[in-house]
Amino acid sequence: MKDKIKQILDEIALFSTESKEELEQFRIKLLSKKGLIPSLFGDFKNVVPEERKEMGQALNSLKNKAQEKIVHLLDQIESKSEEKPADLDLSLPADFGELGARHPISIVRNEIIKIFARLGYTVSEGPEIEDDFHNFSALNFPPNHPARDMQDTFFIEKDPDIALRTHTSSVQVRVMENQQPPIRTISPGRVFRNEAISARAHCIFHQVEGLYINENVSFADLKQTLLYFARELFGEHTKIRLRPSYFPFTEPSAEMDISCNICGGKGCNICKYTGWVEILGCGMVDPNVLDNCGIDSKKYTGFAFGMGIERIAMLKYQINDIRLFFENDKRFLKQFDSAR
Ligand code: PHE
Repeated sequence: MKDKIKQILDEIALFSTESKEELEQFRIKLLSKKGLIPSLFGDFKNVVPEERKEMGQALNSLKNKAQEKIVHLLDQIESKSEEKPADLDLSLPADFGELGARHPISIVRNEIIKIFARLGYTVSEGPEIEDDFHNFSALNFPPNHPARDMQDTFFIEKDPDIALRTHTSSVQVRVMENQQPPIRTISPGRVFRNEAISARAHCIFHQVEGLYINENVSFADLKQTLLYFARELFGEHTKIRLRPSYFPFTEPSAEMDISCNICGGKGCNICKYTGWVEILGCGMVDPNVLDNCGIDSKKYTGFAFGMGIERIAMLKYQINDIRLFFENDKRFLKQFDSAR
């Protein structure tokens, strides 16, 4: 046995290779179940008692040497192949990085745009930093009118004329200034309000507002348009109801509820057991607004509506905290994009 150990030790000392396959052959020859070293361990039972201690130590040391040599050679081979890009196998399939997912706000915004596109609405965009005229005055908010408080405004650099827009109605003012009826447009975009951040409110959120102006536009047209929209977005069995409300730029004004899409109107904690959830504000454009924007209010009438995209997405996907939309946690974001 002594000789055999010596012979294998010599073999280990002399062995060298740059090939992983050869190294693996070497490992199998020495260390696999039926390899040379385990079979020596198998012979150990035949060793006479007085030599056992010495043989045992020699065998263990042999096994360690073999393992060390293999680890050492493997290290060498791997560090060499890292240095040598020529060893790269370019025929291997590429390792694709993880794909991103569309943000739920983008998904819902695109869906809303698509629904109104089917009714002939174009998409208008405008600046996020606005002046008083486009965000307030043109929309029938008189100076110092308490209705301005409804929209906790962020002013820019103490200039009371320049602010972050509080709604995208400002975009519709710009459209009316530049275009005569018929006007059929929606304005999706980011808006800003100085509100405390909580599970239900954020100081940045997204809106889609809509505007239709033509001859003889009536409240019935508004109602039918919104019913179509609600059914397209939340399903064909959705019901709507309009409650009287107040906005400076519409008269009459209303808020629209849809039958709760979670419980189907039976009552649950999302609709607070009322069976209804509010999704948007709307109304007939106040004639003052049309006149402020250069549209003849004797000839034309129109309706407008506006909704928060976060709110709709929360209802659609049953998300209970608005802050999740802004945290960019991939585990949250990747749940919604089925088109990936
Ligand atoms: N601009 C309103 C808001 O931001 C929404 C709205 C738009 C209401 C159009 C009525 C008509 O709260």
